[in-house]
Parts: sequence; structure tokens; C-alpha cells
Amino acid sequence: MSNVFAPPVDLRPDAEILAALVDETYTELARAPYAGFHFNTGASYAVERLGYDPGELMAIPVECTARFAGLGNPLADADPQTGEVLLDAGCGAGTDLLLGAWRVGREGRAFGVEPNPAMRAIARDAVSRQGLGHCRVLEGSLEYLPLPDQSVDVAIANATFSLCPAREEALAELHRVLRPGGRLVISDAVVDGHFPAHERVDPALWAS
Ligand SMILES: C[S@@+](CC[C@H](N)C(=O)[O-])C[C@H]1O[C@@H](n2cnc3c(N)ncnc32)[C@H](O)[C@@H]1O
Repeated sequence: MSNVFAPPVDLRPDAEILAALVDETYTELARAPYAGFHFNTGASYAVERLGYDPGELMAIPVECTARFAGLGNPLADADPQTGEVLLDAGCGAGTDLLLGAWRVGREGRAFGVEPNPAMRAIARDAVSRQGLGHCRVLEGSLEYLPLPDQSVDVAIANATFSLCPAREEALAELHRVLRPGGRLVISDAVVDGHFPAHERVDPALWAS
């Protein structure tokens, strides 16, 4: 007979092991973007599979687009407007961040938040070379957004949520920084099926 009073099992991987594996993966993508990864990367993939505008991507430094690793085109739905404050949570090397910074313009502000130092350095360098004084790349994560309460009009997260086991905390953080009526677009992988418990707690599968 099954025990219907059994406490719910926490089917999450060890957060520290997962963070280390994720950090290793994105440090490697920053170091060697053409090495070949188990996920899609690059400008051609973004144009052909995700509908990015090729002309816009051509204007982004190749150092960023070569390291693009998104799973969707969240800006297409988020539709940032001139003068708005944009957040790209998990901005990686900065492709969406730069595209978003152009859309909000100098009347607005664009913040990229990224935990990986190597990715952050590439995004920061691109922002500085493009002279985007209204755009900043900050250290942080979905679980810790270094922004004040109710300061963001539009937030995007492209292929970052699936790497974060603390999703309730991440959603609470995004809710904290968004203004009332603000917009959030998450582009990510979803599971349509059942994963056995041993796979759901495997950090290597979460990091992939
Ligand atoms: C698949 S890449 C996507 C990067 C970027 N959004 C893009 O579309 O190219 C995932 C990024 O999320 C970052 N990341 C990992 N864990 C994160 C977390 N908990 N919060 C925010 N970003 C995270 C990684 O360092 C990496 O740069």
C-alpha cells in the first residue's frame, strides 16, 4: 500500500554542483565559441531557427553573436519601446542586451545581469565599444537581481531559467524588480513528458 502521507520529494539537483557545472560550460563557451556544444549557438542559428533579423545581428559584434545561446527570440514578444527600462536576466555575451538597448534608446536604460565572469567581460566590452552609455552589465543571477524594486518595464530571460533550480525565488525576484504592469518574457526549453527521479536530480542533465 502506498503511503499517501509521504512528504513531497525535492526533485532538484544539488545547487552547488549544478552552479559549478553551468559555470564551467559557459566559461568554455566564452573561451572557445566555435568548439561545438550540445546546444545551438551563433548568429546563423538565431536567424534561421529563431527568426532574428539578420541585418540587426550584423550590427552586433561577432564576439557576442558567436556566443549567442538563446532558445527563443524574447524581444520579439517583449517589444521594448523607446524610453523603457529593460532587463536581460542571464544576458550571456550580450546579443539580446545590445538589441534591446538599441530599442529602448538613450532615453531608456538597459541592464544585463550575468553570473559568469567571462561572459560578463565579453558583454561589457561590446557595450563599451558601441558607446552605449545607457546600458550596463551587472554581476548577479535570476535569484539575485541587483536592481531596485519596481524599476524595470520589461524583462527577458533567454535560456537561463532552465539552468536555475530555484525557480520560485527567481520568479519572486523578477516580480520584485518589475513595475506594476511590467512585462516578462521567458524563452526556454519545456519538458513534455516524464523524467524519472534519478534524472530530475542529475546536475549534469540540468546543466545541459
Ligand atoms: C544558454 S546561455 C544564454 C545566454 C543569453 N541569454 C543568450 O541568449 O545568448 C545561459 C546563460 O545564463 C547564465 N546563467 C546560468 N545560471 C544563471 C542564473 N541562475 N541566473 C541568471 N543567469 C544564469 C549562464 O552563465 C549563461 O550565460
